[in-house]
Amino acid sequence: MAIPHASSLVESSVPPPDGDALFDVGLRLVERHDGGREAREFELLGLRWDLVPQVFAPVHTDSTELFTEWLPFPVGGSLLEVGCGAGVTAVMAALAGCARVTALDINPEAVRNTELNAVRHGVADRVRVLRSDLYDALAPGERFDVVFWNSNVICAPEEFVYTRPMQYAIFDRSYATHYRYLRDGLTRLTSSGRLFLGFNSLGDAERLHSLAAESGVRITERERTTRRAGDVPVTFQLLEVAP
Ligand SMILES: C[S@@+](CC[C@H](N)C(=O)[O-])C[C@H]1O[C@@H](n2cnc3c(N)ncnc32)[C@H](O)[C@@H]1O
Repeated sequence: MAIPHASSLVESSVPPPDGDALFDVGLRLVERHDGGREAREFELLGLRWDLVPQVFAPVHTDSTELFTEWLPFPVGGSLLEVGCGAGVTAVMAALAGCARVTALDINPEAVRNTELNAVRHGVADRVRVLRSDLYDALAPGERFDVVFWNSNVICAPEEFVYTRPMQYAIFDRSYATHYRYLRDGLTRLTSSGRLFLGFNSLGDAERLHSLAAESGVRITERERTTRRAGDVPVTFQLLEVAP
């Protein structure tokens, strides 16, 4: 289904809160993920996973599980996961038969966490993990059959200063990373490659749509469902980005 207007990106039973309210939701999410964490392991998709402090914990919302189930893994091909966190999607892709998986994150603890889980599940030979700000650490000509990011959807104001690694999992200041993801993502694809974004109703769909227009790309919704994330209902969407 093509999405012609930003409003349809958020069309759901979940009304989008205003910017300040969303920012507060984001602050609470950072606390929930970061504060007083004792678990060093979690279970998801039938497997147990290592969890390193200061890394997005896929147990507080359904996003990781949903996107990992929805994403069409390129069996025998290559996948780039931007913002890999604990590495669940990257490792599941390798277990599902992706020949080459590159997982990257701006948070060095997420890099370590993904490496641990790749070893734990016996796929370290085909999961390369990089610390990278979006595509920066990739070689200029590197291309992938599928590129995916479960993004930090809450738009932080221009003056926001990142002081904790976990904030990168929740906030994107001025949607600068979303803009670069949309603008440059297609150049990272093989000739038949596909670019996906895992988004949700806590994000700024209007801004996403306008950045897509500015970047000359079209956004199509592939999957959607509404679940609770802590105390708020959230609509999760797998979006595909195309020329
Ligand atoms: C919502 S979390 C998703 C984590 C993991 N993919 C999952 O589904 O459990 C978003 C991730 O993107 C990472 N991230 C944010 N900005 C980034 C950037 N500019 N470059 C690379 N990774 C980034 C965060 O550190 C975080 O791990």
